[in-house]
Amino acid sequence: MDSPEEPGACLLHFADEASSAGRLAAATGLRPLAIERHRFPDGEIKLRLPVDAAGRLPRRAVLLRSLHQPNEKLIELLLAAETARALGVQSLALVAPYLAYMRQDIAFQPGEAVSQRIVGPFLGRLFDAVVTVDPHLHRIARLDEAIPGRACAVVSGAPLLADWIAAQREAPLLLGPDAESAQWVAQAAARHVFEYAVCSKTRHGDRQVAVTLPDVFLRGRSVVLLDDVASTGHTLIEATRLLRAAGAASVDVAVTHALLADADLAALHAAGVGAFWSTDCVPHPSNCVYMAQTLGRALGELSW
Ligand code: R5P
Repeated sequence: MDSPEEPGACLLHFADEASSAGRLAAATGLRPLAIERHRFPDGEIKLRLPVDAAGRLPRRAVLLRSLHQPNEKLIELLLAAETARALGVQSLALVAPYLAYMRQDIAFQPGEAVSQRIVGPFLGRLFDAVVTVDPHLHRIARLDEAIPGRACAVVSGAPLLADWIAAQREAPLLLGPDAESAQWVAQAAARHVFEYAVCSKTRHGDRQVAVTLPDVFLRGRSVVLLDDVASTGHTLIEATRLLRAAGAASVDVAVTHALLADADLAALHAAGVGAFWSTDCVPHPSNCVYMAQTLGRALGELSW
């Protein structure tokens, strides 16, 4: 089995993810090389890959690209991967700490595009391996069902978020805001023997959700809401309002993927959230938990 740490193997990355790339390079021994990106006035983009003096790239490379704000990045991946292959890369892995377009996994209405079944195979045509963190898979159990025929590794942010929470709060109650979060909350709670429970949620629209709290004692409790994604933040806002009304002493939030905008974060705090913590899967001011070691281990264990 080849190892990504073989001499000369490189870590391709973009300037806006230089910090994460530095951490992943340190964790893996991969040589970080930045891709230059130019945006033309008409919106097209041009990439320039970091070739050596002979105009070539190493035969083995990893591309780091987290796919929040994904639409333009999917074009970047297409241009970068095809160019890397043309410049000598034979084995190419994608590390996408946040993997977009995994939520639309069935046609909820006739005629809808099933994005997961289109974007997954698209990535599979470009990359030999994909590593990601807590992808939003509902109706499939494994990532390689979405990216058929490719080496896939999924790691979770929950254990390291649990460690962070344990260092910040004494005997917190971990609460998942919806049924899907049960997997992460249970995992995090088991690691530090925290009490945990899960809410139920009904979504009525992008920013309209109804949350029902579980039947647990909340008055005076230090509650930490734990979820994979905060997107608009409305799931967490609704849960926080109810928790505060039920007498929780504090409500803090820990998520793997902080996709939310500044205004949404402000709305969360206005609803009663104290601290908001996230992993660095998506660059965000709330990042405090770093995934490089976990990602590096997963990459090293994959055969590609
Ligand atoms: C849904 O199942 C996810 O786990 C999150 O709860 C959801 O994506 C959060 O979205 P929003 O922040 O927009 O409520």
